Amino acid sequence: MNNSELVKLALEARKFSYSPYSEFSVGAALLCEDGSVFTGCNIENSAFSSTNCAERTAFFKAVSEGKKEFVKIAVVGGDSTEEIPLNYCPPCGVCRQVMKEFCSPDFEIIIAKSPDDYKTLTLAELLPLSFDKREV
Ligand code: THU
Repeated sequence: MNNSELVKLALEARKFSYSPYSEFSVGAALLCEDGSVFTGCNIENSAFSSTNCAERTAFFKAVSEGKKEFVKIAVVGGDSTEEIPLNYCPPCGVCRQVMKEFCSPDFEIIIAKSPDDYKTLTLAELLPLSFDKREV
């Protein structure tokens, strides 16, 4: 699956965002090594800390269905009124740490505004000098 196709799936997933508090909708699409794709959206809660980001929704869906090998993830996010996000939405620190748990440093993170407008970064670039008890 190419990057544009993955971004399209992230934009579709964003439509399911439950974000009445921030009014900021995020979607993610995670490509597994076996070619399967798991999507996610942010799911908020009135007890704010119970909110789950789109990226973690996608990862936890995948891991809970036995997937552990990942290739890349596309992330889109922006004000809920924007059908096409105006800005890139880089993953938050917690989501980067979840990626670190399951992915190699060259795992690709695609931050996109549209299928034709995106940037790719590696996990190593987004989370340098990261914690991993397995490596200490
Ligand atoms: N959010 C994500 O879903 N992913 C990120 O990486 C950054 C933030 C969500 C959490 C919350 O529902 C909303 O965006 C505003 O912070």
